[in-house]
Amino acid sequence: MELRKLGQSDIQVTPIAFGAWAIGGWMWGGADEKDAVKAVQKAFNLGMTTIDTAAVYGFGKSEELVAKALKDTPRDSYQILTKYGLDWTSDEGTFSFDSEDNDGNPVKVYRLATKDRIKKECEDSLKRLQTDYIDLYQIHWPDPKTPITETMEAVAELIEEGKVRAAGVCNYKVEHVNEALKTLPLASNQVPYSMINRGIEKDIVPQAVEKGMHILPYSPLQRGLLTGKITPGYTFSGYDTRKDSKYFTNENIKRANELLAEIKPIAEKHDATFAQLVINWTANQKGVGSVLVGARNEQQVIDNAGALDFTLSKDEIDQITASANKFSLA
Ligand SMILES: NC(=O)c1ccc[n+]([C@@H]2O[C@H](COP(=O)([O-])OP(=O)(O)OC[C@H]3O[C@@H](n4cnc5c(N)ncnc54)[C@H](OP(=O)(O)O)[C@@H]3O)[C@@H](O)[C@H]2O)c1
Repeated sequence: MELRKLGQSDIQVTPIAFGAWAIGGWMWGGADEKDAVKAVQKAFNLGMTTIDTAAVYGFGKSEELVAKALKDTPRDSYQILTKYGLDWTSDEGTFSFDSEDNDGNPVKVYRLATKDRIKKECEDSLKRLQTDYIDLYQIHWPDPKTPITETMEAVAELIEEGKVRAAGVCNYKVEHVNEALKTLPLASNQVPYSMINRGIEKDIVPQAVEKGMHILPYSPLQRGLLTGKITPGYTFSGYDTRKDSKYFTNENIKRANELLAEIKPIAEKHDATFAQLVINWTANQKGVGSVLVGARNEQQVIDNAGALDFTLSKDEIDQITASANKFSLA
C-alpha cells in the first residue's frame, strides 16, 4: 500500500489503517489475544502499516498487543497513532461514561487532558508500546475543563522532546480545532464517518481541507454493520456496546441492509465484498487521509486490505453516494 503524507506533518500513513480498538476487547464483548496478535501481523504483512490505538482501549491492552505483534519489526516500518485524555485510573477529570472491564467489573471513564496527565500518559503508552516515540498523538475526546492551550502545549513539548512526531485530535468540533491551531499545527481530526453517518461533511471536512489537515474516519464499517453480516435479531455477547447503539436496532439494521442490496451490483462488478466496497468509497471521500478499519482476526484483515485492489469510477462513486443519501436512521 502506498504511503501518503498526513496533513502537513512528516508522518507517512497508509490509505487504510488497522484500527486496534476491538482487539482490546473492551466494549466489543472481549477479544481473543492470539487472534488479535495475528490480525495486527497480517495487517502489517499486507502493507497496512499504520495502526491506530489508544491508551484506554482495553485499559492498555490494545497498545500492549500491538507491541507484542510488532516486536520483531523495525520501528520505522510502521506508524503508531495513539490517544490520550480518557482516564480510568482516577476521578480527577470530568465524568464521561460508565463502562465495564472484560471481567465485568464496573469502570468509570473521565476526560482529563491536563499537562501533567498527558506527560504521564505518554510515558505509560511508550512503555506499553515498547517504543521511544509515537508517530501521531491525539486527544481522544475534548476535555471540557482543561484549556485547549494547556493540552496542546503539553503535546508541543512532547514533540520537542522527540517522544511524539506530530499532533492530531479526535472528535474535535470546528471551534476546538481553531483553538488548538493557535498553539501548534494539527495533522488530522479523527472523527466518526461511514456511508450511513455523514454528519462531518457539513463543517468538519471543509475545515480540515481549508487548514491542510486530513480526516481520519473511524467506524467506516459502522462497527461491522456495513459488512452485510448483521441481520435483524442479531445478538451480541458480553459487554458489547453495539447492543445499545441506535444503528443496531432491527429497523436500522434492515435499512442498512437495504442500502447494501442497492449497491450490490457495483460490488459484484468488481468482485468485491461489501466491506471492501464500503472502505473504497470512504477512501475516496473529500479530505480523507487514512480510513481506520477495525478487525478482530486475520480473515477480516485480508478482506479489508483488499479494499483498494479495484478502482471505482466517478460514476460508481456518485451512484453509491446517491444510494447512501437515501439512508436515514429510524
Ligand atoms: N477516536 C475515537 O473516538 C474512535 C472511536 C471509534 C473508533 N476509533 C478507531 O477507528 C477504528 C475503526 O473503527 P471501529 O473499530 O469502531 O469500527 P469499524 O472499523 O467500522 O468496524 C470494525 C468491526 O467490524 C467487524 N469487521 C471488520 N472487518 C470485517 C470484515 N471484513 N467482515 C466482517 N466483519 C468485519 C469486526 O467486529 P466483529 O467481528 O465483532 O463484528 C470489527 O471489529 C477503531 O478500531 C479505532 O482505532 C476511534
